[in-house]
Amino acid sequence: MSTTSQASSKAGRLQDRVAIVTGSSSGMGRAIALALAREGARIVCADLKEEAAQHGFEEDKHIPTHTVITNNGGTSVFKKCDMGKPEEIYELIDFAVSTYSKLDILINNAGLWLPLRDFAVETDDMWDRIMGINGKGTAISMRQAIKQFLTQPVDPVSGCRGRIVNISSSAGIVAVAREATYGASKAAVSMLTRNAALDHAKDYININAVCPGVVRTALSSTNFQDPAIIKEMKKGTPWPRLGEPKDIANVVVFLCTDEAGWITGQNIAVDGGFTVGIPL
Ligand SMILES: NC(=O)c1ccc[n+]([C@@H]2O[C@H](COP(=O)([O-])OP(=O)(O)OC[C@H]3O[C@@H](n4cnc5c(N)ncnc54)[C@H](O)[C@@H]3O)[C@@H](O)[C@H]2O)c1
Repeated sequence: MSTTSQASSKAGRLQDRVAIVTGSSSGMGRAIALALAREGARIVCADLKEEAAQHGFEEDKHIPTHTVITNNGGTSVFKKCDMGKPEEIYELIDFAVSTYSKLDILINNAGLWLPLRDFAVETDDMWDRIMGINGKGTAISMRQAIKQFLTQPVDPVSGCRGRIVNISSSAGIVAVAREATYGASKAAVSMLTRNAALDHAKDYININAVCPGVVRTALSSTNFQDPAIIKEMKKGTPWPRLGEPKDIANVVVFLCTDEAGWITGQNIAVDGGFTVGIPL
């Protein structure tokens, strides 16, 4: 089914909530933005550019995510934001609040992964770029969103002031060969999730993370073009198929709903069993 036909503005579990999704133009971010919009949320789509990556797998990638949402009767705008640039993150949170008067949900999905290599051949520049976007960028947007949440009353319907879902990785849980700095950056995201959740549970703010396994997106497309790597990825994934963006989006949506109101500080692996062990 095309993602175009999946977006809808009919009343849903997140009706009129305001959500920011970073890295919304492609892959999981796009699937998450469309899925939240289907539940009635108003979406600030944030990315480096509004066009989807052309090496991605979406059937309708010629249409920007926010346009797919509005074409289907939903409410969405695009805001350019480089998660490696702190001032653009500050602007993003301010933009969402000035556009829709509040912020209910932040999805920190944008991330940088670089093609596989041994740790010894990684560079200082790679460390700064990966940590800057995945680690520092996530920390800044979380902090700014929490500051905004603290200005808002506890919503009597949702029972919280706001929700954050970070997209970490199975590589932040188990060591994955030739992904050292990326794995360290995602471990930082996962631990930041737990620590911030601990500090702000008393404030009625839920903070969780989803840790995807191998998912077919633009980011992982080089892996999906190499039969030897596909074989390795399947070998490490107990479930008989690899992941699709909607597998992640479904869980993110659940974590944003009122049903998930007593879940906080959790890193939920959505990985076809990747982090459970190596199947026979
Ligand atoms: N694909 C996988 O197998 C996999 C597995 C585990 C975790 N992840 C994580 O999932 C998240 C989404 O990745 P994806 O696989 O959907 O990738 P993707 O390439 O399909 O989409 C990523 C989006 O993020 C945007 N982006 C990249 N850098 C950015 C920046 N500095 N600021 C703002 N936006 C930026 C890109 O433009 C793109 O639209 C990432 O955090 C990634 O690390 C991916």
